[in-house]
Amino acid sequence: MAIPIRLTVNGKAVDAQVEPNTLLVQFLRDQLRLTGTHVGCDTAQCGACTVHLDGRAIKSCNILAAQADGCAVTTIEGLAPEGELHPMQQAFRDCHGLQCGFCTPGMVMSAIALVQEMPGASADDIRSHLDGNLCRCTGYHNIVRAVQQGQTAMVGAAAAHAIAAE
Ligand code: FES
Ligand code: FES
Repeated sequence: MAIPIRLTVNGKAVDAQVEPNTLLVQFLRDQLRLTGTHVGCDTAQCGACTVHLDGRAIKSCNILAAQADGCAVTTIEGLAPEGELHPMQQAFRDCHGLQCGFCTPGMVMSAIALVQEMPGASADDIRSHLDGNLCRCTGYHNIVRAVQQGQTAMVGAAAAHAIAAE
């Protein structure tokens, strides 16, 4: 029997009915049509389904939609205003941090969460943090470069914001 849930997705309130066994990724893709979140394995290994749940990066194939009741979810579609790219997305573009792009939404969501949690992350930290996100195309080198560029932009923007607020 479907159960009601209420959550915020990309800043908008959402009321929905879900089956108790509906995964969060299924809810996002099939009910909300937010298909930027990908499914690569369904077994919590590849990271393609990574989204933010209350600001933390999680694998949305590894949680039920009902468990997100009352939470704030951000998907790749919610990162930046329409027509703009988040600095991390821009960095992946600039640094050729993708080829087929299948892993990219999850990579970007994981990378942003890493920089938010650890603004001074080293290249080794980045490689370690992204070990739950698999890419079959790039060899990872350009992904790490992209995350470093995105990190610089995000940290710089946060500093400028703090100065402006003084
Ligand atoms: S689809 Fe969720 S980790 Fe692969
Ligand atoms: S760019 Fe193809 S899987 Fe990563």
